[in-house]
Amino acid sequence: MDALVSFLTRRRDGAIASRDLDITTEALNFGRGTGNEVELPGPGVMLKEGVLHKRPGGLFFESAKQGSVIVDGKVVRSAPVGIGTRIQLGGYDVIILNPPPGKDVAVSVELTRPLDDTLETLKARSVTSLQDIGVSKRRWAWISALVVLLLFFAWPLVDTYLLEPEIRYDNPMEVATERAPWPVAADVAWVSGEISGPHKFVAKHCNVCHETPFVQVRDAVCLSCHEATGHHVDPVKMPVSGITDVGCQTCHKEHQGVQHIVRNDQAFCAGCHDNLKQWAPQTTLANVAHFGNDHPQFSPAVVVDPAARRTERLVLEKATWPKENSALTFPHKKHLVAEGIIVPGQKDRKVLDCGNCHLPEPGGVGFAPISMQRDCMGCHLLNFEPTAPARTLPHGQPAEAQLILKEFYSDLALRGGAEMEEAPAIVRRRPGTQLTESERLEALAWADRKSAEAGERIFSKSVCGACHAVTKAEVVGRPHWDIVPVVLADRWMPKGRFDHVRHVAQDCGACHAARASETASDVLLPQIQTCQNCHGGERAEQKVPSTCITCHDFHFGNQPRMTAPGQRPPHRAAQRAATP
Ligand code: HEC
Ligand code: HEC
Ligand code: HEC
Ligand code: HEC
Ligand code: HEC
Ligand code: HEC
Ligand code: HEC
Ligand code: HEC
Ligand code: HEC
Ligand code: HEC
Repeated sequence: MDALVSFLTRRRDGAIASRDLDITTEALNFGRGTGNEVELPGPGVMLKEGVLHKRPGGLFFESAKQGSVIVDGKVVRSAPVGIGTRIQLGGYDVIILNPPPGKDVAVSVELTRPLDDTLETLKARSVTSLQDIGVSKRRWAWISALVVLLLFFAWPLVDTYLLEPEIRYDNPMEVATERAPWPVAADVAWVSGEISGPHKFVAKHCNVCHETPFVQVRDAVCLSCHEATGHHVDPVKMPVSGITDVGCQTCHKEHQGVQHIVRNDQAFCAGCHDNLKQWAPQTTLANVAHFGNDHPQFSPAVVVDPAARRTERLVLEKATWPKENSALTFPHKKHLVAEGIIVPGQKDRKVLDCGNCHLPEPGGVGFAPISMQRDCMGCHLLNFEPTAPARTLPHGQPAEAQLILKEFYSDLALRGGAEMEEAPAIVRRRPGTQLTESERLEALAWADRKSAEAGERIFSKSVCGACHAVTKAEVVGRPHWDIVPVVLADRWMPKGRFDHVRHVAQDCGACHAARASETASDVLLPQIQTCQNCHGGERAEQKVPSTCITCHDFHFGNQPRMTAPGQRPPHRAAQRAATP
């Protein structure tokens, strides 16, 4: 479009001077910037104020970007404009004029509100200092300081020392249920960060941990609730600096929000464990720095001497795979045949699966111990006399079993009526007949012989001896059998943690080669490589990221406790309450 722009200036005598400018352009841009067709110098004007378009419907003014302009006294973002319309841009008035012939648009531009005046009047109308409202800066400072002091210092102190309700508890855990007349204690104002998740229940009771204001939290406070916390290493045998001589807070940072009460970084553990001898010269443990590529092969605690219940940590290396000696005979392979196994007295074979004998413990971390009664007795009956198939021996009581044998045959001999071909006539006689003394002795001699024979058979490979290691001794001229104690490991790897529930998606066979095992002496545990297929180090990306405390504890149950059992360190508030 062809535009005529007249810049008007008013002289002191009132006369108006005009400087005309012919512009041919798509649109007329207004603003302080030099890129505008109509340049409006001066500090009150934006770089780009707006643009005047010609559209089929007429002229149209649009303010730049998100801004707004005053068109004919109204604040608008954009508006159609016509002859006589006044647009205010900063101190300038832009008025649309009747275009002379040959022009599409004519505008006049005049600086009507010089900036200096605007600033002066604005200042005059604004209150920008405290004096202006009648209060001196100094007085304000005093008032604020006093409010802060009262609210955040004096009030908490008064609340803690003078108004504190008498806390009577022996056990700090009880505190959460008892508290002050007001909803929160005033010392909450001093909190230096969010309390950790597990301690949120005492978050409003600062004095549970901060027994005395301005004094560091004592370890005894932590131990008053965490009574059972054990040491990481035996503090007598291995007084390792950095563990046994530091406070709980060295590793457990409170007031750091939900995540930070426990240190779980791998570097903390690796800091010692990548060169453990340096810390504990007499240690037998291998160095560890990273589960993915710097962790020793597992060394389960294998039972080597069941009589003495002695275990040894033996490494799971292919060449020297350990053998266990639980004193129990059990071939997994024979019981896990695909076509099933014979059940005495039943036609159909029964297909056994791991779950028939290994029942998950509550919680599912491990499995309940094997029980002969529950898992085996359905097929391995403990009957001893073919003519009395319903009579069975109790399991697990060898002395009782021998007594029962003796009583069973003595009773039979004295009562008579035994249906046994090889028995003397006196034992086979019709029941109820009286015996002479010599007949009685003869019958009992048979019973003695018979029960010894039965014992021999029962404790041999055919019954007890099929599963057990049996010992035989002579006691007062009679044979006496005993069972070598069975020691079935419950925890094979007590130094680490393994949770079956987290791995239920996997087949048992992925970790335990039980189906192929022909003898109970096989150690059926997985090597570390099985775990490394899925678990990597702390920052693993393609595997489950696992830091040391994913699988290990820090406070061990087998180490001395940090507090003597049953001796809760007294909490000061409880002491205070106790003294009159
Ligand atoms: C579960 C125990 C526990 C509770 C509850 C607790 N604190 Fe702490 N607080 C700590 C420990 C531990 C420290 C760090 C050792 C120290 O400085 O005494 C600490 C430190 C502090 C510090 C020092 C600054 C810092 O972050 O090291 C302040 C301030 C503080 N606590 C205020 C409070 C207030 C206020 C409350 C109540 C709202 C409170 N705490 C409740 C355990 C606790
Ligand atoms: C009023 C009793 C109480 C006091 C005092 C207390 N705790 Fe606890 N703490 C608990 C309870 C309850 C839990 C949550 C249950 C649990 O893990 O035993 C817990 C949990 C923890 C946990 C486990 C957090 C997790 O995610 O597993 C750590 C670590 C801990 N406390 C350390 C401390 C330390 C350090 C102190 C001393 C500054 C302390 N506690 C003082 C009651 C207390
Ligand atoms: C200040 C050094 C130090 C730090 C840090 C440390 N440990 Fe230890 N750790 C030891 C010493 C020393 C032993 C005892 C060695 C021994 O008994 O032969 C030990 C023993 C162990 C054991 C074997 C326990 C047992 O029953 O025999 C495991 C597992 C363990 N630490 C894991 C960890 C984990 C996980 C961390 C990190 C949370 C960690 N350690 C941090 C020094 C440290
Ligand atoms: C008929 C009962 C029975 C069945 C079925 C059975 N087990 Fe066992 N399992 C036992 C007995 C008994 C022991 C203890 C004796 C021993 O150490 O072998 C045992 C021990 C184990 C152990 C201990 C570690 C070891 O080295 O001895 C593992 C692991 C195991 N079984 C896995 C399995 C798996 C996997 C299956 C299924 C494929 C399975 N079992 C099926 C009876 C059974
Ligand atoms: C479903 C029936 C059944 C159950 C349950 C069962 N067994 Fe057996 N068991 C058998 C049969 C059948 C045989 C003979 C298999 C063979 O010789 O092939 C046998 C054989 C054995 C043998 C002798 C193997 C040999 O080589 O002579 C032992 C030992 C044994 N079982 C122990 C156990 C123990 C321990 C349990 C319980 C944890 C158990 N069994 C549970 C049916 C069962
Ligand atoms: C089919 C195999 C089997 C037969 C047969 C068997 N037992 Fe057992 N016995 C076991 C198993 C499995 C255990 C361990 C689990 C339990 O105590 O139930 C065990 C445990 C025992 C224990 C406990 C050992 C300890 O240290 O706690 C004694 C004692 C015992 N049996 C005696 C006997 C006697 C006596 C007989 C013969 C009358 C016998 N058993 C027959 C499988 C058998
Ligand atoms: C990802 C590997 C993995 C899988 C899958 C797995 N286990 Fe285990 N299992 C282990 C490890 C590791 C241990 C040793 C844990 C310990 O004693 O500290 C173990 C121990 C056992 C024990 C002996 C300890 C106890 O608690 O009695 C039995 C029995 C057992 N597993 C049976 C099974 C059965 C049955 C299944 C399938 C349902 C199964 N496992 C699946 C790794 C696995
Ligand atoms: C995925 C689980 C897992 C992770 C992650 C893991 N470990 Fe282990 N670690 C085990 C198991 C299982 C054992 C064998 C436990 C046993 O033999 O009783 C073990 C054994 C150990 C041992 C005993 C070593 C020996 O001489 O036999 C130490 C020490 C140890 N780990 C420290 C660490 C440290 C430090 C980290 C972190 C860098 C770590 N572990 C990470 C599972 C893990
Ligand atoms: C097939 C993959 C796989 C194998 C093999 C495997 N794990 Fe895991 N494991 C997982 C997954 C997935 C989780 C769950 C992770 C989670 O919940 O964040 C897990 C969880 C765990 C946890 C529990 C962590 C917790 O937060 O409580 C332990 C401990 C663990 N595994 C140890 C082992 C050990 C030891 C082995 C070897 C015997 C092993 N895993 C083998 C996949 C595997
Ligand atoms: C040198 C570091 C360190 C010191 C000191 C320390 N802890 Fe821990 N603590 C840990 C680590 C690491 C874990 C996490 C490992 C785990 O989950 O078992 C932990 C876990 C805990 C837990 C969680 C549950 C448990 O027993 O596994 C409690 C509770 C706890 N510590 C209490 C205490 C108390 C109370 C003290 C002071 C007497 C203390 N700790 C001193 C490092 C430390």
